[in-house]
Amino acid sequence: MKNNIIKFKIIRLPVNRWKEYRTLRLIGLKTDPQAFGRSLREAKKYPDKFWKDALRKSTTAKEYVVFFAECNQKLVGMFGLTFLQGDKIKHRAKSTMFYVLPAFRGMGIGSALFKEAMRTVKQKRRIKKIESSVNFGQEDSLRLHQKNGFKIIGIAKKEIKIGNKFYDQYLLEKIL
Ligand SMILES: CC(C)(COP(=O)(O)OP(=O)(O)OC[C@H]1O[C@@H](n2cnc3c(N)ncnc32)[C@H](O)[C@@H]1OP(=O)(O)O)[C@@H](O)C(=O)NCCC(=O)NCCS
Repeated sequence: MKNNIIKFKIIRLPVNRWKEYRTLRLIGLKTDPQAFGRSLREAKKYPDKFWKDALRKSTTAKEYVVFFAECNQKLVGMFGLTFLQGDKIKHRAKSTMFYVLPAFRGMGIGSALFKEAMRTVKQKRRIKKIESSVNFGQEDSLRLHQKNGFKIIGIAKKEIKIGNKFYDQYLLEKIL
């Protein structure tokens, strides 16, 4: 961590804190729309059950897990992992929803979330590959992926569209 002034911890969230999860996710879709595939407009419409179910799933970490960074009891960042199901694909995991509030960036929170996610993946011995994607322009995220052993395996053109602007996307993977 570069800045020792800030103290944070990486946690999993109990289901009863689902509103905080929702709030952080919606803020992320608002501050950095070009980083994510989902739109704020869509996410705002999700029923409460959507957020609760996601956290409920996360408690067992069988199909899905989301880590949060907490600072003074406030959620400031998150990182999700989906574990693919099915005989032929259950060795794969996918990263999602990597985000840190703008005021808390550059302090090592993203790196800590990333490391915790990688540690969890390693513990799941069936996982042999982690997949991720980073939209063009998200340089901090791309660098963090590369620092954590991800390699760019391709570029998907025009992957998302916001207004009239298209964004290409780096496709990344890490073989374990
Ligand atoms: C990507 C992201 C999660 C990284 O979180 P973070 O807490 O800033 O990560 P870290 O503090 O561990 O720093 C990561 C790098 O970004 C740099 N950085 C990012 N924001 C910074 C800031 N505001 N001030 C200074 N440095 C910053 C750091 O110096 C570091 O680079 P280095 O390791 O080469 O020195 C965060 O930038 C973010 O939420 N971005 C917008 C959403 C996004 O792109 N998500 C990824 C989708 S794939």
